[in-house]
Amino acid sequence: MNALAEKLNAALGPVAEMLSPAGRRMYFPYGGILGQGAEAKSCGINATIGMAFEEDGSPLVMDCFAGQTGLGRKSFLYAGSFGLMPLRETWKKMQVKKNPSLRGKRFSMPVVTNALTHGLRIAGELFAAPGDEVVAPDLYWDNYSLIFEEVCGAKLCTFNTFRAGAFDAAAMKRALSAPGGKKILVLNFPNNPTGYTATFDDARKIVAAVKSVAAKGKKIVVVLDDAYFGLVYEKGVHAESLFSEFADLHENVLAVKLDGTTKEDYVWGLRVGFITFAWKGASDEQLAAMAAKAAGDVRSGISNASSIGQHMALNAYNSLDYSRQKREKYAVLKKRYGIIRRLLASHREWRELFEPMPFNSGYFMCVKPKRADPEAVRRLLIEKYSTGTIVLSGLIRIAFSTISCEKLPALFSNVADAIRDIRYRGV
Ligand SMILES: Cc1ncc(COP(=O)(O)O)c(C=O)c1O
Repeated sequence: MNALAEKLNAALGPVAEMLSPAGRRMYFPYGGILGQGAEAKSCGINATIGMAFEEDGSPLVMDCFAGQTGLGRKSFLYAGSFGLMPLRETWKKMQVKKNPSLRGKRFSMPVVTNALTHGLRIAGELFAAPGDEVVAPDLYWDNYSLIFEEVCGAKLCTFNTFRAGAFDAAAMKRALSAPGGKKILVLNFPNNPTGYTATFDDARKIVAAVKSVAAKGKKIVVVLDDAYFGLVYEKGVHAESLFSEFADLHENVLAVKLDGTTKEDYVWGLRVGFITFAWKGASDEQLAAMAAKAAGDVRSGISNASSIGQHMALNAYNSLDYSRQKREKYAVLKKRYGIIRRLLASHREWRELFEPMPFNSGYFMCVKPKRADPEAVRRLLIEKYSTGTIVLSGLIRIAFSTISCEKLPALFSNVADAIRDIRYRGV
């Protein structure tokens, strides 16, 4: 094993046992080109780095690129594998502001990823390997299968998502308690596909379940996919990330937070996300060691995330109008949520056709057709009603984030009509 990896593992101590074999081998190449480049940073003549500069020392960038962005030419330089420090510092402060329970808790500096998918992949590579079980609710974002099963070779073990209209924390506990070694628990609130976020009661049960399994000696890596963070539309819902709870829950619990600009700041193509770590008793040195593992993984996969994207995000967060604009866009989605709630309440005749799954947040909601094959409903919705939906795990997922208020009544009555067609008219 590389000496730098050994050094990081030694710093991590018992937490290193939670890493996959690849995670244990991972290190950030502080030596080599990067280390030598860093040492030469203040040199008058610096011939180390693979970028190009003009005769006057400014970044050598063509106007046909630079002229498009309104950003300075420096935004075309590499951002580095950890990401731009001012952005990381800003995001860390924002994490505390958005999750007041994090105040005073120790957690790593976020490492910039090429948005959340890449963060999930890094978490997978650092912690999941053949023989490991990744525990997730059975209503999950389908990319988890590709990442954790196909790439990492781990086994995805799902548990029942809902019981009596609430999150089935007891089913989660049973899955975590199953024999075998360490478990990787993936939680995603607000959830894709259901649009559900744990209520305060759910959150209490989830945290208590993880704590009691960890207290029996099981090591648990809790991966929090916070892609839709902040988009909560009901009172009584746990709007903060559960990262705040898991950050110092138990020595056997390692929390990994994945978040970023994509969904919560409505910049899907920007590709700027973050991976952040915390565990009970972690020292600054240990958190930096885990961040170095993540940055090493970034280096090995994409070298570094888009510098332009990172500069844009930083400028937006520093903009005095950011909070107002964010509230304005949140209100657009919340209004649609409210309309859907009213539609479902007023159309009692739909109740025998489909059952809405619990939802209170995010971009989506799901309905379960009654006595009609969901895939047949989806097809008919396209062919007869020019209405596109997604079928997942026997549910029809409706992305209300994409549908104007005006079209929502037609969307839901089309779903009802398509189910009726299939049930009564044998279409
Ligand atoms: C639950 C969840 N996590 C992560 C992602 C990926 O986000 P990104 O586009 O930032 O990679 C998505 C995208 O649909 C998602 O629904």
